[in-house]
Amino acid sequence: MRLLVTGGAGFIGSNFVHQAVGRAGHTVTVVDKLTYAANRESLADLPEDRVRFVEADICDRHLVDLLVAECDAVVHFAAESHNDNSIDDPEVFVTTNVVGTFCLLELVRRYHKRFHHISTDEVYGDLELDSPIRFTPQTPYKPSSPYSASKAASDMLVRAWTRTYGLKATISNCSNNYGPRQHVEKFIPRQITNILDGQRPRLYGTGLNTRDWIHVDDHNSAVLAILQRGRVGETYLVGADGELTNRQVIEMILVEMGRSPDEYDLVRDRPGHDLRYAIDASKTRNELGWVPAYPDFSVGLRATIDWYRQNESWWRPQKAATETKYRANGQ
Ligand code: NAD
Ligand code: DAU
Repeated sequence: MRLLVTGGAGFIGSNFVHQAVGRAGHTVTVVDKLTYAANRESLADLPEDRVRFVEADICDRHLVDLLVAECDAVVHFAAESHNDNSIDDPEVFVTTNVVGTFCLLELVRRYHKRFHHISTDEVYGDLELDSPIRFTPQTPYKPSSPYSASKAASDMLVRAWTRTYGLKATISNCSNNYGPRQHVEKFIPRQITNILDGQRPRLYGTGLNTRDWIHVDDHNSAVLAILQRGRVGETYLVGADGELTNRQVIEMILVEMGRSPDEYDLVRDRPGHDLRYAIDASKTRNELGWVPAYPDFSVGLRATIDWYRQNESWWRPQKAATETKYRANGQ
């Protein structure tokens, strides 16, 4: 297939491009605005005859029109993705995540193209720590932050366009990704690079908030399976049964990096901080035969730590400005 991949210079989108070209044999056009979160280095070493890069905003309908017209399917990763930023400055989250998705939907409707929308488990709100409940495709939407509300709004647009206009669309809602090439603003790379810099990791609030971690390779193998075998109009949840408290994750990182597991600081909590996410991915596993390659978080975490150790030139340019912003917020 000829895929148009939005946000393909970001963390998950660039990993998808590598898999789509290398493993699945697709050709790819990346459209990316190159915000602070993008890194062109993440798309290095790809065959030039199979991957084309276009710097553009997904809200630029005239430019993106031509790209949608010539592809077979759009895989939509582009978004403002960081909760803390959405609390400080929500407007761009509405513009890119809601209006940007609307622009793409209108083009996909005009050209009758297949559309896959990448979304998040955060649209479902949060769960109690001691509850046996996990998110399923039937869980009602209850987003908490400006980021998750904007993603929920974009999901609703996709559902409405699918029902009203018969769009050939699928949605995936995935849990927290980790792995190489993730921006140092995010939890795991922030703590790894803090330790590499001789700084103590910083944990929001009590550190008992729980996330359901999945390796980025596994998220994208699920996206490829949905593109190949998913049923149009359906929502697929993606997660790898990787529930851990933030405290457990910090302790694992510290021990893996040869430090004492209590060498971290508790800092100001995130306003509205979601307590726990947990995904029931049985529909995706049973219907598509999808199986994660990293069922053991500690294996993927070790490889991720090694990647940040060996690729300082990739993350170093982002580090100082990211930490300055966090410190100004008491985090
Ligand atoms: P990221 O912030 O690393 O990358 C986002 C990319 O989108 C960047 O390259 C950026 O330049 C691009 N972009 C932003 N605004 C754009 C615009 N207006 N036009 C064109 N390009 C634009 O994000 P990520 O972590 O890779 O997340 C990718 C997608 O996956 C998002 O839709 C996010 O909501 C979703 N998601 C992320 C996670 C996670 O754990 N990171 C989990 C589930 C779902
Ligand atoms: O669940 C999927 C979502 O996961 C995606 O939709 C988002 O795009 C992605 O950013 C992620 O959201 P989170 O807010 O869960 O991820 P973040 O890496 O920002 O934080 C993970 C947890 O760690 C969260 O409970 C907040 C906490 N945290 C974060 C940072 C940056 C800390 O305790 N200390 C920190 O320094």
